[in-house]
Amino acid sequence: MSLPTHFTLNTGAKIPAVGLGTWQSKPGEVRKAVAYALKDGYRHIDAALIYGNEVEVGQGIVDSGVPREDIFLTSKLWNTDHPNVAEGLEKSLKSLGVDYLDLYLIHWPVRLVPNESHPLLPVNPDGTRSVDRAWDMSETWRQMEEVYKTGKVKAIGVANWSIPYLEDLEKTWTVVPAVNQVELHPLLPQHELREWCHKRGILLEAYSPLGSTGAPIASDEAIQTMATKYNVSPAAILISYHVNRGDVVLPKSVSEARITSNRKELVALDKADLDVLNALAAQGKAKRINTPLWGFDLGFADWYGPVKST
Ligand SMILES: NC(=O)c1ccc[n+]([C@@H]2O[C@H](COP(=O)([O-])OP(=O)(O)OC[C@H]3O[C@@H](n4cnc5c(N)ncnc54)[C@H](OP(=O)(O)O)[C@@H]3O)[C@@H](O)[C@H]2O)c1
Repeated sequence: MSLPTHFTLNTGAKIPAVGLGTWQSKPGEVRKAVAYALKDGYRHIDAALIYGNEVEVGQGIVDSGVPREDIFLTSKLWNTDHPNVAEGLEKSLKSLGVDYLDLYLIHWPVRLVPNESHPLLPVNPDGTRSVDRAWDMSETWRQMEEVYKTGKVKAIGVANWSIPYLEDLEKTWTVVPAVNQVELHPLLPQHELREWCHKRGILLEAYSPLGSTGAPIASDEAIQTMATKYNVSPAAILISYHVNRGDVVLPKSVSEARITSNRKELVALDKADLDVLNALAAQGKAKRINTPLWGFDLGFADWYGPVKST
């Protein structure tokens, strides 16, 4: 069985199954990583304003010599820009040096109120993040739909949205999000969220597929055993998991060897092995790695405890 190289968004556009992540890719490294990845065959780059490296990502795209129209480029609206989506978008377009994005995501269902404490991660005098709890996310989505109509973004979507948040958005959306980008790996398989999104034609994108910094999930015993069975690296099992499930996957690397293997070492997993991976979390290994201190429950069952029923 050969694995799909692309999936189809609800806009009809094709999206490469594997994209290069760029979070925590340092200045001086990310430009080279992006250029190398594109020359090596990647056609999908995942960027964001908050990563602070979009200028270098854009330079890497130019260095690669790959035409812009051959690349699927994503960026994300930062939390301080919810009331001004068009302005947030312009900042990313300018930094990246492009005139459109293939996908623009709301990075978090969290609005931060700007103040003098920090340009992107403002805090209150007591040190807590200056979250606007009353902000209406449907207004952010309405503005996302507006920028979508301009053609400057070819698709719009969300990131880090749980089912309760999506259910709220569904009441008012006129454009169904193309994508929900969430933390996704065998220790956080998000079975219910996947089903909810798939029923509505929303594609999932897996972030932190290796467990983020240092790829800790690659050390899991079950992953290592499976890697030995398939004669590939543990990272290849973790990345292949998503492509086999039908989800986009976004491994980050600045190492040329790992950038190459993360896209080329994919394997078709037997159904029995997929079942093993799908069941790991339920066997006591469940783990969420990214839990920024927004100060409230984002509606994921495993965020800071059970989802509140009210
Ligand atoms: N929407 C969101 O809120 C959100 C949140 C987190 C991440 N993301 C996106 O998803 C991307 C991926 O997630 P992530 O950056 O958290 O982590 P990740 O891709 O799970 O893991 C990256 C780490 O694994 C290492 N690594 C990469 N390939 C490897 C391999 N083959 N073998 C061993 N180690 C390997 C990397 O080091 P080297 O670089 O040295 O190879 C780095 O330390 C991000 O870069 C970002 O684009 C989105």
